[in-house]
Amino acid sequence: MTAKILDGKAIAKQEQALIAKEVKARTQRGQRAPGLAVILVGLDHASQLYVQKKRHACEEIGFHSQAFDLPADISEKALLNKIEELNHSDLIDGILVQLPLPSHISTEKVIETIAPHKDVDGFHPYNLGKLAQNQPGLRPCTPVGIVTLLSHTDIKLQGASVCMVGASRIVGRPMALELLNQDATVTICHRYTRDLANQVKQADIVIVAAGSPMLIRGDWIKEGAVIIDVGINRLDSGKIVGDVDFEQAKLRASWITPVPGGVGPMTVASLLKNTLLAAKLHTG
Ligand code: GUN
Repeated sequence: MTAKILDGKAIAKQEQALIAKEVKARTQRGQRAPGLAVILVGLDHASQLYVQKKRHACEEIGFHSQAFDLPADISEKALLNKIEELNHSDLIDGILVQLPLPSHISTEKVIETIAPHKDVDGFHPYNLGKLAQNQPGLRPCTPVGIVTLLSHTDIKLQGASVCMVGASRIVGRPMALELLNQDATVTICHRYTRDLANQVKQADIVIVAAGSPMLIRGDWIKEGAVIIDVGINRLDSGKIVGDVDFEQAKLRASWITPVPGGVGPMTVASLLKNTLLAAKLHTG
């Protein structure tokens, strides 16, 4: 079997076209454009690239975008004050603080300071709690993007056996909740999982967000499984690869995401969807 490619870039483009249409209709009705504030602290190269993509997508789609590039040594208090100011802004529907943050700043405090109704990352305990109760509001972007990708395959989530590799706040944990809400059977694997190969071998769907190139070997993949690779790793050669041995896995899988051009663009599309949803809640 040779896997079909799950083209996140193309699917994200379709999603963005639909959002752009809605934004246009809203502005034609005299409503203001949805507003997103994206805060970057420091000069981490990967974060700069991700933030650039998010800001660019906002502008392309007709959102009002505010960019804040703050120095790495900004105090926690000054950052929290900026968030409070944006919580009260009438032009801003969504606030995103790019992670990771410098170690002198508490990520928990930052996330909990963002007003839950402007938390377009879906990381606030209120929004994660709603997701855990299967009453989702603003949902974490990468898992939503992956659910959308899966809806473009022929796999049925109800009853499917899913191996989620990685238990992070950003991907693994909320992803498991999303899948549980779709009646899948989910196993979360992490660095202390004893027999990762065996867990992967059982799965109809394998989702990997570990940040470790070639972690998942092609011969671990069950024939016909769907493979979603969230990893983005830069090799010494400069090549960008995921966490899965793509060339070998694609010989066994039914569907597989490429890296780059798989999950990454879907995260951005979900952020735009969340910002539009937040704007609708704020302005009708
Ligand atoms: N860092 C890596 N992924 C993300 C994301 O989805 N949101 C934020 N805020 N930071 C990230």
